Amino acid sequence: MQQVHLGIIGGGTVGGGVYDALQRNGTLLASRLGVNVCVWRVAVRDLKKSRASKIPRTLLTTDWREVVFDPQVELIAELIGGTTIAREAILAALKLGKPVITANKALLSAHGEELFAAAKKYGTNLYYEASVCGGIPIIKSLREGFVGNRITALYGIVNGTCNYILTRMKLEGADFGAVLAEAQRLGYAETPPDLDIDGHDAAHKTGILASLAHGFWINPKKIHVEGIRHISALDIKFAGELGYTIKLLGTVKKAETGDRKSEKKCRVQVSVYPTLVPNSHVLASVNGVFNAVFVRGDVVGDSLFYGRGAGKDATASAVLSDLGDAVLDLKSGAKNRLPAFVPHECSGAVAPIEEVVSQYFVRLNVIDKPGVLARVATIFGEANIGISSVIQPEGHQGKTVPLIFMLHYATNGTALEALAKIAKLPNVKGKPVMIRVENFE
Ligand code: NAP
Ligand code: HSE
Repeated sequence: MQQVHLGIIGGGTVGGGVYDALQRNGTLLASRLGVNVCVWRVAVRDLKKSRASKIPRTLLTTDWREVVFDPQVELIAELIGGTTIAREAILAALKLGKPVITANKALLSAHGEELFAAAKKYGTNLYYEASVCGGIPIIKSLREGFVGNRITALYGIVNGTCNYILTRMKLEGADFGAVLAEAQRLGYAETPPDLDIDGHDAAHKTGILASLAHGFWINPKKIHVEGIRHISALDIKFAGELGYTIKLLGTVKKAETGDRKSEKKCRVQVSVYPTLVPNSHVLASVNGVFNAVFVRGDVVGDSLFYGRGAGKDATASAVLSDLGDAVLDLKSGAKNRLPAFVPHECSGAVAPIEEVVSQYFVRLNVIDKPGVLARVATIFGEANIGISSVIQPEGHQGKTVPLIFMLHYATNGTALEALAKIAKLPNVKGKPVMIRVENFE
């Protein structure tokens, strides 16, 4: 049987997972592909480190160049992470015409345009299924499965660590720090985990999905990002009482903006922020490390993809999917079978968040005196923001009481301006909490 020699750069959670999965299912893969994938070399940082994976010592090197430049190695998997050495190694491999598989969404977000251009220039391929949503084949689905659709909306729970934390906070009342430590122990979190909890990892992935959906490379600086650090047990509780679950949601949709002129142009909202999801929506029940992507296509309608978003085996499964494609492309000599990005009518511009229209949950801490509610309502009224409900739950938080508003559609700019005025009212204490609400209309 034909053999392909694979070089792996990185033997940690994902790299080790790929090695072990190949030991387990290599024969099955070979029988399906008609080609045997043989791991030839593996680069790691520390040869002495004890590893959960069974990678033989004889394959290990600490120099990625020994993997990339080994003439026997025909295919490279970059699984070290980071944006410097990984970029250098991938560019070196592409320059040699060697196809590369990567799980590195941070790198793709920062340098995707350059890397895809290099793959094209040197007549080879770059595969990245494992970069978004662990084991869910969402890249292949968007690129190939939905090739005949315009993607009108896409909503994703794309960070396993944040979903794990939010789920355990909601269902068990667990402490944020303790659950984060557990997510790190389980190999879900990035190094450092701030990338997860501040929303950047989700933004990297959402940008990649948006680029595929809309055919142009999304500049990561244009993505509005908010993480989950400020989400409190109180917000989770009140959202629950109103029939919602808080999820960190990546949103990609044709922007509804408050700017009448720009409504004529097609602009895209690309954002990541904690969002109130109605409990009746399927995304509200995606729990733990699981990810889900809800895709609306103009031909297919609504589709849902669900699976483990992080961890050794789920991510290894996605790398194996790319291995399959890479091996078949090598066998047939296919290059750039589908261009990375194909511009169409909704390509070109990301709408600034200030102009994007949303609905809102707002929680204030107020001194419980007559007239406070009226003054807050007046500021919302002056900003032309409708209030759909107000709740003042029983019970004091020290000298203050919580006051919860559900607000109708308004631009983010208008809502933030109104909240800044409300924050200055003498009887409003602390920073108002504003969480956007998505009804998937
Ligand atoms: P990890 O467990 O920290 O593993 C990184 C590996 O790279 C380690 O084996 C490390 O060597 C090696 N390494 C680091 N710098 C190196 C260098 N300069 N030269 C040679 N080897 C080097 O990370 P991971 O979780 O596997 O993540 C790898 C990539 O997959 C990242 O881009 C990440 O974002 C992505 N990803 C991860 C997951 C997940 O669930 N973990 C899911 C999807 C995508 P040592 O072992 O000697 O330290
Ligand atoms: N840290 C990432 C997550 C790993 O928690 O989703 C998978 O990309």
